[in-house]
Amino acid sequence: MTQYAHITGWGMCVPEKKLTNAALAQMVDTTDEWIRTRTGISERHIAGNEDTTASLATEAALRALQVANLRPDKVDLIIVSTSTPEYIFPATACVVQDRIGATKAGAFDLLAACSGFIFALNVASQAIQNGTIVNALVIGSETLSRIVDWGDRETCILFGDGAGAFVLQGRNDPGGYLSGVMRSDGSGGDLLNLPAGGSKIPTSLATIHEGLHYIHMNGREVFRFATRVMVQATQEAVQAAQLTLDDIQLVIPHQANLRIIEAAARGLDIPLERCMINLDRYGNTSTASIPIAACEAVESGRLKAGDKVVFVGFGAGLTWGASVVQWSAPSEVKRKVRPERYRLLARLRSVLLRVIRHFEGLIWGQ
Ligand code: ACO
Repeated sequence: MTQYAHITGWGMCVPEKKLTNAALAQMVDTTDEWIRTRTGISERHIAGNEDTTASLATEAALRALQVANLRPDKVDLIIVSTSTPEYIFPATACVVQDRIGATKAGAFDLLAACSGFIFALNVASQAIQNGTIVNALVIGSETLSRIVDWGDRETCILFGDGAGAFVLQGRNDPGGYLSGVMRSDGSGGDLLNLPAGGSKIPTSLATIHEGLHYIHMNGREVFRFATRVMVQATQEAVQAAQLTLDDIQLVIPHQANLRIIEAAARGLDIPLERCMINLDRYGNTSTASIPIAACEAVESGRLKAGDKVVFVGFGAGLTWGASVVQWSAPSEVKRKVRPERYRLLARLRSVLLRVIRHFEGLIWGQ
């Protein structure tokens, strides 16, 4: 039985289209200077007509599988963490499962807003550590631009679209996922929410008229909450891993606001240089922000095999959490796997299954 959940693959995907602060200033009453000084954001990527949460998730997943050298049909579990699912159901994870041809994977979505990736990482790691599964794909994917009110300057400047994915694999060598902390406080649910479109307030002409299908946020209160919990969650996760902050090479925080990250670094008494920051180019991509930042940390050489890294985030719910991971190298394999090639096979398989289901329906219907 395997004991350790290693991150052996990583991939990201952001839409091509960029939206700069200058362009935003043409849309709402704001300025590049205000956005940069209050948030640290300069530009964000916005989904084009062809991009969806599932399409970005699929690309990120295939890239992660390629790094891990893992065939999609070896994946046992797919978790897509998102607040902007393709549909309320079926799960976006099932759409991804079908598109990549993960023929034996169970797939479900997880909603914990911006903390979702940390929660999903925890769930998948536990399943690997207790021997239920061997290989998992954990994906954070968002198209927040579709639920942002582009006339509301307090929210529309913050968010961006994108996806990031990790492959987790069970191995016998020590390392990988070391500890995780998951917390929530539903009493703060009204501070950041999307009021309509669920079962309590179904979509209607009135909800659309009142803009209840957009993100509503009390920015100041979320800011206060975030600065408090980032420090607390990091300390708890580091302690649970039986480490101290001196053992941590890199902190990858949720990329919501530079001032929140600066406050967390001050609270933890670590130099800001030990925190990965890329929100200037992506804005807040919610649950995708941590895996996207991790991919860029690896690419830039700031995160290497053997390093110990903290992922820490907060979000609507309210939710917050952190995990400590010892970063791994991809598993050694004899032959290079090209998961991208499975996309066409997956498409054919999907069409075939639909055709079979159609004919079965005709036969049994008679
Ligand atoms: N351009 C110019 N002025 C603005 C803008 C803007 N885009 N937005 C707000 N203002 C104005 C306000 O109207 C206010 O004016 P007033 O003083 O005349 O009333 C002034 O700027 C200050 O507003 P504050 O809300 O106090 O600004 P603050 O410094 O708190 O920054 C911000 C606002 C950036 C939203 C900050 O509070 C923040 O980052 N909060 C956390 C948000 C967050 O992280 N949300 C995501 C959570 S993760 C998830 O689950 C999706």
